Amino acid sequence: MAGPATQEHLKTQQKCIAIFALVCCFAVLVALFFSSVDIWGDSEDGITEENCSRNCRIVLVENIPEDLFPADAKTNMPLSAGFHTLLDLAKYSIEVVSPVWNLNSCDTDTKPGSAKQGQLLFQRLIGLKSRGVKLKIASSLTNSVELKTLVEHGAEVSFVNMTAFTRGGLNSSFWIVDRKHMYIGTGDMNWRSFSKRKEMGLVLYNCSCLALDLHRVFSFYWQLHERDYIPTIWSRRVSALYKIDEPLELQVNETEATTFVSTSPELFCAKDRTKDVDAIYQVIHSAKSFIFISVTDYLPLVNRKLRGGADTRYWSPIDEVIREAVMLRGVKVRMLITHWKKTHPLTFNFVSSLKSLCLELHNCSLEVRFFSQKEKKGDFQDLLNHNKYMVTDNALYIGNHNWVGSDFAINAGVGLVIMMQNNLKNRGRTIIGQVRAAFDRDWRSRYAKSHQGSNHQNSKYRECNSKTKERENDSISSL
Ligand SMILES: *[C@@H]1O[C@H](CO)[C@@H](O)[C@H](O)[C@H]1NC(C)=O
Ligand SMILES: *[C@@H]1O[C@H](CO)[C@@H](O)[C@H](O)[C@H]1NC(C)=O
Ligand SMILES: *[C@@H]1O[C@H](CO)[C@@H](O)[C@H](O)[C@H]1NC(C)=O
Ligand SMILES: *[C@@H]1O[C@H](CO)[C@@H](O)[C@H](O)[C@H]1NC(C)=O
Ligand SMILES: *[C@@H]1O[C@H](CO)[C@@H](O)[C@H](O)[C@H]1NC(C)=O
Ligand SMILES: *[C@@H]1O[C@H](CO)[C@@H](O)[C@H](O)[C@H]1NC(C)=O
Repeated sequence: MAGPATQEHLKTQQKCIAIFALVCCFAVLVALFFSSVDIWGDSEDGITEENCSRNCRIVLVENIPEDLFPADAKTNMPLSAGFHTLLDLAKYSIEVVSPVWNLNSCDTDTKPGSAKQGQLLFQRLIGLKSRGVKLKIASSLTNSVELKTLVEHGAEVSFVNMTAFTRGGLNSSFWIVDRKHMYIGTGDMNWRSFSKRKEMGLVLYNCSCLALDLHRVFSFYWQLHERDYIPTIWSRRVSALYKIDEPLELQVNETEATTFVSTSPELFCAKDRTKDVDAIYQVIHSAKSFIFISVTDYLPLVNRKLRGGADTRYWSPIDEVIREAVMLRGVKVRMLITHWKKTHPLTFNFVSSLKSLCLELHNCSLEVRFFSQKEKKGDFQDLLNHNKYMVTDNALYIGNHNWVGSDFAINAGVGLVIMMQNNLKNRGRTIIGQVRAAFDRDWRSRYAKSHQGSNHQNSKYRECNSKTKERENDSISSL
């Protein structure tokens, strides 16, 4: 009945509707794409890879529990002082990742004043908003009172549901200030890190190239907020700027160095990001004369919790490369492991196995000592040596994980590698020399006890050893 004109009109209308629908579909797709990918990432405040600063200052920060060493052994900047310098410098933003938020403790059975540093730091973090400094925190904690308080005082918190990804924890521990200065180390937002626990970290000032890259790790966590999957396509703003085979070249206190940031678990390695384990592997592999390792726990096992129980496997990458360095390259290895309540009994077996490699071999030296503080009673976290680093003749690695397979497999952490030419002239004055001196101090201290049997390599330190003989036997019988 309709005339040709009306039919024509209808057709055009249909066409319009079809085109409109197509456009809508397209728009929805684009919106979906961008929302899941976050292509724009986070703003990087105008500092780019081209004009970032490579002329950095580095400071070794440590927390040494009060009565652990004589005063003359405490030559490095205290950890709390390091955080205060960063807070002083902050103009725009502080980004923090910490496995624990427990600064504001009122622990009653500890010495009065031991929790003071933590409380002070917490007050300063609360006060950031009034200075116009933005505080951003990424955390996997679901019920933290302190995080709630910080949010009430203007902090932004991104919740990373580690349960959904690996059933581990967001155990990374670092700070980024104004994308310019940074901290990385074992000391975290726990009052114990400023009193009872032995911690080590690095603070880098005026180091925007490296801070920018670490910020990308932070951005990665930030974008996992409330997600339960890892997107397959990622924003360019979270991929790594520097990696194991293309490290950042910079100057730390006027010394040429190369450096990169590594992460774990593998699932959390964005494009180009080096895995922690590969970083450790490379540092051990490129050592020429010595490797000194200080970790709380050493255990080459991965323990996966499965529905029908647990599945434990031998996890070889680090164990393997240590064996190679010791036996085939004649590199001298020292391992300082903490002996504490939670030391896994198999640690001693793995360590004995490593030590036995050198039987009857010349040019082979692998020594292990256990850092323990048995005579102290109370909280097992007291005076715990919480260090997690390795220093060699030409490099330094400082990370957030113990050298335990499961930690690398399920917990999120970051590591920093700094490599330097082994320059005799500068030795001792570089950061590598300083970390080595800290290791030597711990190694020779009365808390470092060699475990089980005789150790032929120890003649130089026999004096310390004879003093600790009874304690050694103690620790063997306690197994
Ligand atoms: C670095 O370069 C970017 C873009 O080229 C520019 O916007 C920014 O102001 C520069 N920053 C500095 C500190 O020079
Ligand atoms: C985290 O993810 C798990 C598994 O997807 C889920 O069951 C849980 O509710 C999530 N937790 C929170 C606090 O969102
Ligand atoms: C790391 O995360 C795991 C899992 O949440 C937790 O059991 C462990 O205590 C954490 N480690 C540290 C150093 O906080
Ligand atoms: C960082 O660089 C600025 C400008 O070059 C300088 O004034 C400042 O003292 C440096 N900060 C540190 C901690 O070295
Ligand atoms: C063994 O040690 C000696 C003396 O330290 C050294 O000259 C030699 O090169 C070493 N051999 C190997 C295979 O490392
Ligand atoms: C680097 O320089 C800073 C400031 O001048 C100093 O405090 C620090 O001890 C130096 N670090 C090293 C490893 O020499």
